Amino acid sequence: MDYSGVGIAITGCGSAAPETAIDNDRLSEIMDTSDEWIASRTGIRQRRLSDASGSLVQLATEAARGAIEMAGIEPIDLDLILLATSTPDDMFGSACQVQAALGASQAVAFDLTAACSGFVFGLVTAAQYIRTGTYRNVLLIGADVLSRWVDWSDRRTCVLFGDGAGAVVMQANTVDRLLGFELRSDGSQHHCLNLAYSGEPKALLNDCEITQGQFRSLTMNGQEVYRFAVKRVPEVIEKALFRANITVDAIDWLLLHQANQRILDAVAHRLGIPSEKVISNLAKYGNTSAASIPLALDEAVRGGAVKLGETIAVSGFGAGLTWGAAVFQWGR
Ligand code: ACO
Repeated sequence: MDYSGVGIAITGCGSAAPETAIDNDRLSEIMDTSDEWIASRTGIRQRRLSDASGSLVQLATEAARGAIEMAGIEPIDLDLILLATSTPDDMFGSACQVQAALGASQAVAFDLTAACSGFVFGLVTAAQYIRTGTYRNVLLIGADVLSRWVDWSDRRTCVLFGDGAGAVVMQANTVDRLLGFELRSDGSQHHCLNLAYSGEPKALLNDCEITQGQFRSLTMNGQEVYRFAVKRVPEVIEKALFRANITVDAIDWLLLHQANQRILDAVAHRLGIPSEKVISNLAKYGNTSAASIPLALDEAVRGGAVKLGETIAVSGFGAGLTWGAAVFQWGR
């Protein structure tokens, strides 16, 4: 059967977060910070943190189950599983463990790494497989456990992040609900935000030296990242809207990567989007990296805010640097 030229619909969403919630006051017990400082500069009030019994695969699988159920399909129906994460349980990738946990034995599964842009990059990647007729049912998960990788002695970064997972099911559809997208990268700004490998030289043979080491904690130049996001995110959303052939007034919801309330407010202001249309749940979860957009989407859908057929502009931005936007109508 020729599926080429098929449309795309996002038909289900789900999410998961660890049970342990740590508010800003609790953080001030272990570092020189305060609820006032964190909340006024970021909007974050608490974050969920994964304990030793939790894993990225567990969170991703739980989020996936919710999305599959809402879409009304079975795991066996899935053709592809994309896991957007920068914090896999296994450096070789964790998507296959999610596939096994779900019993999605017909699906090919792999990880995709684009930091906080991972969900939007994954959405566009999944869409290409559906548009070309290669696959019909795709599970896209954004999941991160950054609590493993932040430096808990660095108050400038550790207060920002939390752990979580969100997922969507994307399906071939007669009507195309993915209206437009734009993705961008700029590796020359990599130093602004990274989680880099650091190795020590080790002589293996007389004429062969390798390195062995580990990843260092996340580092960030907060002010540079702030300036980057506030400038580049409105641009990329405008480009996605242009490709979708709609104007900003046609957007029902603006859903940005949940990095910082001040970034959300500044981007909405630049685009002329009123605050009632801006989805935000970072007060409860902090910055959950690739999970933040689908986690917020799932809460907005299940809470009844986002309704079938409504138009949502999503935008992710972060390490790489990477940034991107997509515009879609919710549902079939
Ligand atoms: N509690 C109390 N004081 C703090 C804390 C804290 N948690 N963190 C920093 N400070 C202090 C600093 O030590 C500094 O004090 P000093 O002047 O005596 O040295 C002062 O506060 C100002 O520090 P800055 O780092 O300049 O703080 P800034 O006002 O830039 O705010 C923030 C930091 C919130 C990170 C801001 O730069 C920002 O919003 N950046 C955007 C980046 C972002 O949101 N990244 C999220 C991750 S990236 C992503 O998802 C794409």
